Amino acid sequence: MAREGELPEKGHDDHLPHLPDERFCRHANYPRNMGIIQDADGKATGVGVCGDSIDICLSIQNNVIGGIGQIPHGCIYTVACGSAVSQLVYGKHLEDALKVTPGDVAEELGGLPEDHMHCASLAVNTLGEAIDDYYRKEWGNSGKQEISKHADL
Ligand code: FES
Repeated sequence: MAREGELPEKGHDDHLPHLPDERFCRHANYPRNMGIIQDADGKATGVGVCGDSIDICLSIQNNVIGGIGQIPHGCIYTVACGSAVSQLVYGKHLEDALKVTPGDVAEELGGLPEDHMHCASLAVNTLGEAIDDYYRKEWGNSGKQEISKHADL
């Protein structure tokens, strides 16, 4: 039997819909940045079509993500995706964080089965909503509008 954080032994994988990569196991067993940030600068709760959800809150300094907290509610793929997206954007400028895609999350996890790519989309979309919440508070409008305003300059 595999110990916590290890891949299952051969013979067990035929019961899994997806043979997880070691990176997936690390994020799933030891999720990064779990928890909430009091007085977060931006926060959001995203809900997937399946009913799983992720809470994300951000601490932002000079348009850089200096702190991120996330709490996943759902399947192990949702847990791993919430963890992966939090690791991918920690320390990043908001504009770079907004460029992270579900494919990047899947890559960070060593791949995801097609029927769980929506877990990566949930994590990325929730991050985008948390950033948008920050822009709304900071600028009084949507970040998307703010970015497009800059693009017109
Ligand atoms: Fe739906 Fe994970 S199974 S978000």
